[in-house]
Amino acid sequence: MNLLHALDELGHEQVTVCRDSAANYLGIIALHSTALGPAVGGTRLWHYPSFDAALTDVLRLSRAMTYKNALAGLPFGGGKGVLMTPAPAAPPAGPARETLFRAHGRFVERLHGLYIAGEDVGTTPADMAMVAEETRHVAGLTTGVGDPAPFTARGVCRAMQAVASVLWGRDDLEGRTVAIQGLGSVGTHLAEALAARGARLLVSDLDPTRVDHVVSELRAVAIAPANVVDVPVDIFAPCALGGVLDDETVPRLRAQAVVGAANNQLLEPRHGDALAAREILYIPDYAANAGGVISGSVDIAGWDRGKMEAAIDRIYDTVLEICSKARAAHTTPARAADRMVEDRIAQARQR
Ligand code: NAI
Repeated sequence: MNLLHALDELGHEQVTVCRDSAANYLGIIALHSTALGPAVGGTRLWHYPSFDAALTDVLRLSRAMTYKNALAGLPFGGGKGVLMTPAPAAPPAGPARETLFRAHGRFVERLHGLYIAGEDVGTTPADMAMVAEETRHVAGLTTGVGDPAPFTARGVCRAMQAVASVLWGRDDLEGRTVAIQGLGSVGTHLAEALAARGARLLVSDLDPTRVDHVVSELRAVAIAPANVVDVPVDIFAPCALGGVLDDETVPRLRAQAVVGAANNQLLEPRHGDALAAREILYIPDYAANAGGVISGSVDIAGWDRGKMEAAIDRIYDTVLEICSKARAAHTTPARAADRMVEDRIAQARQR
């Protein structure tokens, strides 16, 4: 990868490669933007096939955090950390894990609060507690509001209510059919929230025990993972992996809207245009799934729980605003949301 070219194209402020050979630590901390506040974003522990792959991932993820935090109205910029593990099947455990995360804490501390770390794929609140031994610039601890997943699900549900208001003139989800792809932490909470609002659920997961639980508890209908994009529904909710909206799936979708928790749902930006061409309303993932990072405002910005929950509920208003701006500008909601963020950041830079 040509790093200078990538920095120019993506607009990062600072990228730090961190190495502590005694701790078996190789990490990258990318600060995409601190225009709105300290760069907030999780630290991922992953086996990457190459250094370039890790760099590509951290640049992409940190930029996405800028957009998510800004659109949610949080006083945070966007950043991300990635730690490279040497072997895919053997993430460090025991004392080696503590050594690794304490090393990470020392590198975070060197940034003097420009980056605030949190948990992400491959890391846990217990890992963040080890980071906290070395720096106070860390969130996602067990002492905070806890697991972000229920908050993420609450925000996705609010985004769906806004979509219902835009498409069907009423923000109530009673009788609406929703297909959920992925019944992990967020998908399961989302299924519960939707069932409580009278929605009819079609659900899929690679793990049949997760499906069985939701089918028996919430009277959902199980769908084979390979077929979940084919079912005729009001809303398709990707809550598993990124990149699920691509050349193969977009033509197959039989949903009127796509609203879900997964990060980076569009394989490429042009797939947002392909959805619009099929008149499928796609709500940008970073607008719908911001509830988790908003819950971090209690730890990071000292918000009380009521203020934090009200901010999650405002995802409803944000989605309405995105849809209305998209209509006015004859563009897609994805492009309208990007524009809102870029305007906010440009204004902050002028201050
Ligand atoms: P998770 O790891 O708990 O659950 C993911 C589920 O998807 C697993 O049950 C897995 O078996 C299932 N799955 C994987 N591939 C599948 C496929 N092809 N078809 C059907 N199911 C499949 O993850 P979690 O925390 O629920 O997050 C879900 C998504 O939302 C991820 O993309 C994550 O990055 C994103 N996200 C999560 C947030 C959170 O608060 N946990 C916050 C913002 C985004």
